[in-house]
Amino acid sequence: MGGKLIVFEGVEGCGKTSQMQLCGQWLESLGISVILTREPGGTKLGSHLRSLLLESENTVAEVTELLLYAADRAQHVEQELKPSLAAGKYILCDRYTDSTIAYQGYGRGLNFKLIHQLNDIATAGLESDLTIWLDIDVELGLSRKRKDEAKLDRIEQETIAFHRRVQQGYAELAASNPSRIVRVDGSLSKETVHQMIQDILRVHLKGL
Ligand code: TMP
Repeated sequence: MGGKLIVFEGVEGCGKTSQMQLCGQWLESLGISVILTREPGGTKLGSHLRSLLLESENTVAEVTELLLYAADRAQHVEQELKPSLAAGKYILCDRYTDSTIAYQGYGRGLNFKLIHQLNDIATAGLESDLTIWLDIDVELGLSRKRKDEAKLDRIEQETIAFHRRVQQGYAELAASNPSRIVRVDGSLSKETVHQMIQDILRVHLKGL
């Protein structure tokens, strides 16, 4: 069976991490070889970049931020994603190119053409087979984060207006890529969301 790249996207606190774990366990129960990874931080180099990007003490210029996410992705694609796909694995990836469009494009207002060029360079054309967008109200997501973690990271600390623009970005991305991005209501119970994700994967990824 060929490998697949399945990406989980959404605003802060949308439930990606727990849904990825449930999905991974389910796929493994079907006898599929799965890896869970994330951006930023899916490689050793990337884990350093993740700290630089997210530690709230750091001052990071907007273009620097964009370039660091692109650098993290280039390393991740080369070192982790391509070899895992070649080995026939199912990759569950926490964030990918749409995060850069949503956060740096819609959120920061950086140039979309530049973002697409950097995404193209970083991925060498590797697109997700399927992207699950966990859609949750921005305030609800942030309140989950505040409950879980005492300290918010540099991006979580952004204004509510910033996070609303990111959300708007995801809505527009989903509307313009209906065959690749599937929306799931992230405010439903963990079990319901997991069931919906199973149904989506069965429909979109033949052979499950
Ligand atoms: P998370 O993995 O815990 O969701 O945190 C990653 C943070 O990095 C999150 O705030 C979104 C942000 N991010 C971007 O701004 N651009 C990107 O390209 C990626 C991958 C993440």
